[in-house]
Amino acid sequence: MRYGKIFAGLFMAAALPGANSAVADSIDDKAQVCAGCHGEKGIPQEKTTPIIWGQNEGYILVELRDFKSGARKNDIMSGIVADLSKKDMLDLAAHFAGLKWPDLQQASPPRPVMKQALTVIGSIGCTSCHLDQYQGNSTTPRLAGQQSEYLQKTMTDFRDRSRANNPGMSDLMNAAQPADLGPIAQYLASLTVVGGNQ
Ligand code: HEC
Ligand code: HEC
Repeated sequence: MRYGKIFAGLFMAAALPGANSAVADSIDDKAQVCAGCHGEKGIPQEKTTPIIWGQNEGYILVELRDFKSGARKNDIMSGIVADLSKKDMLDLAAHFAGLKWPDLQQASPPRPVMKQALTVIGSIGCTSCHLDQYQGNSTTPRLAGQQSEYLQKTMTDFRDRSRANNPGMSDLMNAAQPADLGPIAQYLASLTVVGGNQ
């Protein structure tokens, strides 16, 4: 496993005699591994990699747990979490939740696309769980300002149940048509949270 070596190296560095605050160092070092894909400043390298800076703590923890148990399948992330302890996951969730959500300045979709998104969102009632500004809470994720391509990919994965860690979200996504997911993703990606951590 590609990252196994990196982790092994980090653990040895943290265990060196004389290293003060070894625990703090090791969580920073582990977070550094995440930066390779989720971004040095919270802006992911790839369009289908989600923003995790400023995401809700409970949600980050649930996802790390689900990648580890295999409830949420992803070849990249399952390799990453394989080496993490429960404490590492708690620490990483707290670390990333405490950082500032990056503003990717994704444009609002054209009016007809927006209208299509709002019609579907309104009929399914997404804000009843994701809250009025799509900021989410606890184990419900923030969607506002997330990467558009990632949102579309993960909603598609929920819809065809290749993302199987929350059957309720899969059922809800099946109330939308495949052609609705692009418009919904573009709309959510364009939102900011007023008074939030961005
Ligand atoms: C090699 C690239 C890579 C590295 C390194 C990486 N990730 Fe990821 N991560 C991804 C991708 C890609 C996804 C999206 C998976 C999917 O589509 O289901 C993801 C998804 C996630 C999610 C789910 C977010 C959401 O909105 O559902 C969390 C949480 C996460 N990663 C945390 C981490 C943490 C913490 C680390 C470091 C310990 C890390 N990742 C390292 C690529 C990476
Ligand atoms: C009954 C509550 C509920 C409703 C209604 C709901 N969601 Fe969710 N949604 C959740 C929860 C909880 C999760 C986290 C699932 C998990 O643990 O992986 C989630 C996850 C998601 C994700 C994944 C985010 C990420 O970072 O990977 C997207 C996208 C999403 N919801 C979009 C929507 C949209 C769009 C609607 C309306 C069409 C909607 N949700 C309605 C509860 C809800």
